[in-house]
Amino acid sequence: MSEAIPAVTVENLTKVFAVPFRKEKVVAVENLSITVGAGQVYGLIGPNGSGKSTTMKVILGLIGPTSGSTAIFGRSSRNVDSRNSVGFLPENPYFYKYLTGGETLDFYGKLCGLNRKQIKRRTTELLDLVDLQNARDRRLGGYSKGMLQRIGLAQALIQDPQLLVLDEPTAGVDPAGSRKIRDLILALKERGISIILSSHLLEQVQEVCDRIGIIYKGKLVREGELESLISIEDQTEIVLRGASPALLEKIANLIATDSGGAELLRSGHPRTTLERLFLKVTSESPDTSSGLPDA
Ligand SMILES: Nc1ncnc2c1ncn2[C@@H]1O[C@H](COP(=O)(O)OP(=O)(O)O)[C@@H](O)[C@H]1O
Ligand SMILES: [Mg+2]
Repeated sequence: MSEAIPAVTVENLTKVFAVPFRKEKVVAVENLSITVGAGQVYGLIGPNGSGKSTTMKVILGLIGPTSGSTAIFGRSSRNVDSRNSVGFLPENPYFYKYLTGGETLDFYGKLCGLNRKQIKRRTTELLDLVDLQNARDRRLGGYSKGMLQRIGLAQALIQDPQLLVLDEPTAGVDPAGSRKIRDLILALKERGISIILSSHLLEQVQEVCDRIGIIYKGKLVREGELESLISIEDQTEIVLRGASPALLEKIANLIATDSGGAELLRSGHPRTTLERLFLKVTSESPDTSSGLPDA
């Protein structure tokens, strides 16, 4: 039954900020409606300043809407109960840099009211999950950006949430580190956790999101499943291996003479994304972000 209740609903959300000492106002989000189905990973994509963080803060009840409404598993965000099983990774998480990874999770466990035994178990479990067991006793001041984002994710998971809200989880993280975070997101989805995340880069999230909303200047401009967003309906791709120039010429000739109106737009080597290429050419190098002890 609870499967039918969406993890997140945003209905006609508008958020207007008054700018202090000035008359004008900023419309951060305008009439935005989205639904994150239970168990789904939803990506809110848009350039900086388009209203992603604002939308997330309203969903979390950290700020109120100007109009419209948001709900988590059917409960209004205005209701404190709605946040009972939600984990949040803010855009710029603030951590005490003198604490170690293990101490940080212990600290959040304590804040959440876990007892000593639960804290110990949960910290170990989560450090394992985010692959920071080797960095447990290192201070966060020495963590890379990717490691900090992973400790942030672990922190968001302390209470075993049903919904995760991740604001730019891969921003500023190098490609290998981003890959790790995306694998982690997929692993969490496997566990049945619903996730809404934001990014200003489609490339960073396209592999993990079931559904994507593109937001621009506060408005939802496109929405749908990834495939339908990125496929070009009237084009067909044929990928050949070992084609000779003669074969390519034949194909080009065939299209020129007997194609029923189809035209050849381009032929050549398929392109990979820059990111995939980067990952491929760097995959032999040791992973420096995995918490090796300081030399
Ligand atoms: N507390 C605030 N007061 C005034 N303006 C704000 C506030 N928070 C965000 N904004 C403005 O709202 C717009 C959307 O911001 P934000 O939601 O942070 O975008 P994004 O997360 O997509 O980068 C921006 O123009 C930003 O300057
Ligand atoms: Mg933001």
